Amino acid sequence: MKKSLVNQTIQLGVCYYPEHWNEELWEDDFKRMKDLNFSVVRMAEFAWSIFEPEEAQFSFEFFDRVLDLAHQYGLKVVLGTPTATPPAWLTYKYPEVLNVSQEGVQYQHGQRRHYNYNSPIYQELSARIVEKMAEHYKSHPAVIGWQIDNELNCEINVFYSEADHTAFRSWVKNKYDSLEKLNQAWGTVFWNQTYTEWEQVHLTRPTVSDSPNPHQALDEKRFISDSAISYAELQEKIIRKHVGDKQWVTTNGLFGHLDNHKMTDELLDFFAYDSYPNFSTIYPDTGEKPLLDRKWSWNLSTVRSISPNFAVFEQQSGPGGWVNRMEQPSPKPGQMRLWTYQSIANGADMVLYFRWRTATMGTEIYWHGLNDYHNQPNRRIKEVSQISEELQKIGEKIAGSTYKAEVAILKDYENEWDGELDLWHGPLEQKSVMAWFKALQYNHVPVDAFYLSQDTSINDLEGYKVLIYPHPTILTEETASLLQEFAEQGGTVIFGCRTGYKNLDGQCYMKPFPGPVSSLCGVTVEDFSLVGPYENAPSIQMDGEQLSADSFIEALKVESEEAEVIARFAEGYMSEKPVLVKNPVGKGASYYYGSTFTLGTAEKLLSLLNISTPIDWVKAPEAVEIAIRKKENNQPFVFLLNYSNQEQEITLLQEATNMLTGDRVSGSVVMEAYGVMVLEGK
Ligand code: GAL
Repeated sequence: MKKSLVNQTIQLGVCYYPEHWNEELWEDDFKRMKDLNFSVVRMAEFAWSIFEPEEAQFSFEFFDRVLDLAHQYGLKVVLGTPTATPPAWLTYKYPEVLNVSQEGVQYQHGQRRHYNYNSPIYQELSARIVEKMAEHYKSHPAVIGWQIDNELNCEINVFYSEADHTAFRSWVKNKYDSLEKLNQAWGTVFWNQTYTEWEQVHLTRPTVSDSPNPHQALDEKRFISDSAISYAELQEKIIRKHVGDKQWVTTNGLFGHLDNHKMTDELLDFFAYDSYPNFSTIYPDTGEKPLLDRKWSWNLSTVRSISPNFAVFEQQSGPGGWVNRMEQPSPKPGQMRLWTYQSIANGADMVLYFRWRTATMGTEIYWHGLNDYHNQPNRRIKEVSQISEELQKIGEKIAGSTYKAEVAILKDYENEWDGELDLWHGPLEQKSVMAWFKALQYNHVPVDAFYLSQDTSINDLEGYKVLIYPHPTILTEETASLLQEFAEQGGTVIFGCRTGYKNLDGQCYMKPFPGPVSSLCGVTVEDFSLVGPYENAPSIQMDGEQLSADSFIEALKVESEEAEVIARFAEGYMSEKPVLVKNPVGKGASYYYGSTFTLGTAEKLLSLLNISTPIDWVKAPEAVEIAIRKKENNQPFVFLLNYSNQEQEITLLQEATNMLTGDRVSGSVVMEAYGVMVLEGK
C-alpha cells in the first residue's frame, strides 16, 4: 500500500543545508520559515561526510541538533540519503566506485554524481550509510519522509566503469540466455559483429564515426535504467525495513535513461520533481511561438503521469547559475508566484523552494535562494509570503484534487531511447510533441502525457477521448490492438509519419509502413522521404487551406473503403498524393498524418476534430494557460496563468469566485503581467 503525499492542505517549504551555515543562524532561519508558514524542510542529501566523517565512524549529533530544532519550530523534515556525493575518503580508497566516460576517463572527486550504480563496494557502503540513518531517524518526530539519493541520472546518464561492463554482461545473459539470441537481437551479422564468448560483450565503446550498434545502444539504455532502479531499490528496502509505514519514500528528478514510471510503481510512494522554468532562458524551445517557461507545464504533465499528486522538491526561487555555466536571469516580479501555481495547477501538493539562502561558497554561489547572502528582507521573500498567505486560503480545498484532461500525448521509453541515436525519428518526435503541446496550450485544452508500456490496459486509458501518438517507430502488435480497442470504443487516435516499422529490438519489420497499425489507420505508405537539409518541405492542401509538411514526408495509399482523404500534398513529386487520412473504426476513428506535426497542422486538426476547451465560460488570450484540478463529482478549480509580461484581458461568461481574493468575478477581467487566478465555478 503506497503512502499518500496528500495532506489536509498544499504543503509549502524549502530546502535547507545546515552544514553550509554557522550554527548560530539555524534558529533564526527556522523561526523565519515558520513565520512564512512553511511546514516542510528538505535536507541532508549531500551530507555524507557529516554522518560518516571516516570510514565506519558514524556521527549523528550534528543532524540531531538540526532536527530537534526543526521539530521545536513545528517543521517537518524530508531527509535525503547522501549517496549523490561520496566522501573523498571513499573514492580515494575505492576508486572502482567512480564513473568512467565511454572513452575510459575516470571522473574524480570534486563535483557530484561521480559514482557508478554497479560497483559492489559502493552498493555496500551506500547500504550501510542508509541503514545507519534509517535506524537512527526512524522515530524522529520531525521526519515525514525520505528522498533516495538526489536526481538519479542528473549531470551524467551514461556509465562505463568496469563494474558497469561486468553488470551489463550479466544483464544480457539474463535477458537473452544464449549468445545466439543476443546476436540475433543485435543483428550482429551486419558488419561482422558476431560474438562468440560472453567476455567479448561490452557496453558501447568508442567506435569509428561514433556510431555504435543501434540495438546494443538501445539495450544499454534499458540496462542503465535497470541499474539506477536496482540501486534505488537497495536503499528503499533498507529504509522501509526500519521506518515501516511511518515515513514515506520517494526520489526527485526527471532525467534521461531512467524509467521513472517503473521505479515509482515498484518502489516509491510518489514521485518528486525539481522545477526550474528559467532553464527556458538558456535552452529555449525553438520553432514557432516558443513556450519558454510555460513549457515546464509539459514537464509537469510528465511528472503527473507518474504520480497524479506529486511533490516539487526544488521550485526555482531566484536567478539560477553555476560559476562556470548556466547563466539565468532573475525571475521577474510575479514569476516565482506564477511558477508555484504552475506546479500546483499541474498536480503538485507539496512545493519546496530551492533554497533557503544562496550558498556563499562552491559551484552554486549564483544559484539563488529565497534569501540573499546578506540575509536581509528582499522581494523574493515578499513574493513567497504572498503565496503562502494565499495557500492558507485555498490549500485545504485544493489538496488531493487532480488535473483533468481528455486529450493525452502518448509517449514510451523504448522510442524515447531509440530516438536518441536514431536521427530518422528522435528529432521528429520532439518537434511533434512540442507542436501538439503548443497547439493545445494556446487553445486552452488541458492535456496529459501518458506513457505506454507493454502492461498498459484499456482501463488505464479511461477518460481520454483523443490520443496523439506522434511517431511510435517501435510499435508492437499488442500496442496496436490496445489502440484499436480504444478507437472501437469511441476514441480518436492520431499518428504521424515513421509509425510502426520497428520491433522491440529496434529492428525493422519486413512489412509496409505503418506495420501493426496499417489496418487501424486504413493506409499503407506508398513512398517516403526525409526532407534533406537543403530542401523545403512541400506544402499540403487541407480543408481548403495551404499548410506545410515538415521534416519527413510520406505519400499514403488508402487501403480501406471507409477511409477518407483529408489532405493531399500540393507540390513536389508527391503532389496530389494523400498525406492525411481518417479511418472510421467502430465508434471512433484514427487519423494518420504522413509528416511531422507543426503548430499549424496541429491547430488545424484541433479545429477539424472539434477539440476545444472544456471550460467554455472562460475566454482567454493565448498567453494564458488554463488548467483544471478537480475532486470527484465536485466543481472544478480553474487555474488561469498569465505567462506574459503584459496585462491580459479575459472574459468570464458566468460568475465565479476568485479563490485567491475571495471576490466574485464576471465579465471582463484584467490579469496583471505574470498574474494568477484560481476560479471556482462550473
Ligand atoms: C538541482 C539539484 C540541486 C541544485 C540545483 C541547482 O538539479 O538537485 O542540488 O544543484 O539543481 O543547480
